[in-house]
Amino acid sequence: FGSDATKIQRNPLFSTLNSEDISYFKGVLGEKNVIQDEERLLTANTDWMHKYRGSSKLLLQPRSTEEVSQILKYCNSRSLAVVPQGGNTGLVGGSVPVFDEVVINVSLMNNIISFDKVSGILVCEAGCILENLITFLDTQGYIMPLDLGAKGSSQIGGNVSTNAGGLRLVRYGSLHGNVLGLEVVLANGDVLDMLGTLRKDNTGYDLKHLFIGSEGSLGIVTKVSILTPPKLSAVNVAFLACKDYFSCQKLLVEAKWKLGEILSAFEFLDNLAMDLVLNHLEGVRNPLPPSLHSFYVLIETTGSDEAYSKEKLEAFLLHAMGAGLITDGALAQDINQASSFWLIREGLPEALMKAGAVYKYDLSLPIENMYNLVEEMRIRLGESATVVAYGHLGDGNLHLNISTPQYEDKILAQIEPYVYEWTSKHRGSISAEHGLGLMKANEIFYSKPTNVVHLMGSIKKALDPKGILNPYKVLPHSLSSSS
Ligand code: FAD
Ligand code: MLT
Ligand code: ZN
Repeated sequence: FGSDATKIQRNPLFSTLNSEDISYFKGVLGEKNVIQDEERLLTANTDWMHKYRGSSKLLLQPRSTEEVSQILKYCNSRSLAVVPQGGNTGLVGGSVPVFDEVVINVSLMNNIISFDKVSGILVCEAGCILENLITFLDTQGYIMPLDLGAKGSSQIGGNVSTNAGGLRLVRYGSLHGNVLGLEVVLANGDVLDMLGTLRKDNTGYDLKHLFIGSEGSLGIVTKVSILTPPKLSAVNVAFLACKDYFSCQKLLVEAKWKLGEILSAFEFLDNLAMDLVLNHLEGVRNPLPPSLHSFYVLIETTGSDEAYSKEKLEAFLLHAMGAGLITDGALAQDINQASSFWLIREGLPEALMKAGAVYKYDLSLPIENMYNLVEEMRIRLGESATVVAYGHLGDGNLHLNISTPQYEDKILAQIEPYVYEWTSKHRGSISAEHGLGLMKANEIFYSKPTNVVHLMGSIKKALDPKGILNPYKVLPHSLSSSS
């Protein structure tokens, strides 16, 4: 397990659960949604990476906003700390308890409330699994504006609470643009109905944005209204090899100019990432003949006219080949081949888990010097670790992953604070899309000025004066603990 949690103390102002609390929760939620079973608690206490583990004794599964409101109101009055949990696929230790916080999971709130086929606006409960929403929208001729490797278990409430980016942000933008409304329950049980379905609404402060990306520290998201794009029929995927990082950058610039409105993903991985996925995931193979390729780029285009899209993409690939930007490439001939290309990129987080321990850094950096960090890290760590890089190049988002047989303080000391200082020096972000969670709560100052962090602390205090919502996460511990 990682060592982040060992550095903090349980807030002594929080109460511990007693039998009266359990009886109260059973009264509100019914016996079977008040879970004390050890096996289920072990799952709820352990994060996806198996890096963080809490010791919660209770998992609550409300079925309605009213139930969420009642249990939060009670927890607040009793000073019982809580952790909102979705699909528990978060990568920064934000979704699991640090100590004995009560886990609240809205997975039973998984209904689609409405879908407007004219505007493409979907309203649903926060516990809907992303993949189920994608499947539902497919039947309506629409898609979700976000897609990510964890779609099979992450919930839309979790996606919103992390402001998840994912694979299509380059085309459809972030959830700050696509989420039109939210219903949120505050720590004291108040329900905020901000569930608008309007694209334009300039009446006062747009408070929903406070909750998008707030990682469960300001309220529990119970309903979401989201703008969904139409499902266009002409989707093409190319898997390309580049000889160096400079060529990847030039390829991106060319793709923006030459593919323009049909570009829907621009992802990259380096050769060590490719080796890792080939070695650790069954059924994955490199579509390009073995060679000493240094980088791979996956480009997806999405348009409404197959002939137009194909012609555009083929002309782009010919141009890129002629200009020496790509050394080899394959264009998917059918949907199965397209999926097999995507599997290489989407399988990377799982391959890293299979390889052993992984130190994950999710950075926004200026694209031109992003890869210098990867090379510097390799020199720093030498033989002690495998440094692999991949990410959403089109968004300037590098996933720097350091794979080792097990977690070791001596390796961590070589990585941090170096990686954060480097990012800060280049005016990057230490969390592009995964959030701060427990892992980076104390590192926020690398990306945000002190007065901005203090204003965040004041907002947290105003909305959650006792600090019961996801304590020890997001904000530095000095600011987020209640007093
Ligand atoms: P959880 O992990 O359960 O929780 C995440 C945070 O949100 C926690 O702080 C939690 O307290 C809070 N939370 C959850 N539900 C609610 C709610 N209803 N109300 C208030 N707070 C809540 N992330 C990306 O951005 N882009 C990617 O491409 C991407 N790919 C991934 C691929 C894999 C294989 C994995 C394992 C993870 C990936 N992630 C990615 C990270 C993760 O999937 C996302 O952060 C996802 O949005 C989390 O959703 P979840 O339902 O699992 O939330
Ligand atoms: C991804 O893009 O694959 C995800 O953000 C997960 C990761 O960084 O490993
Ligand atoms: Zn990502």
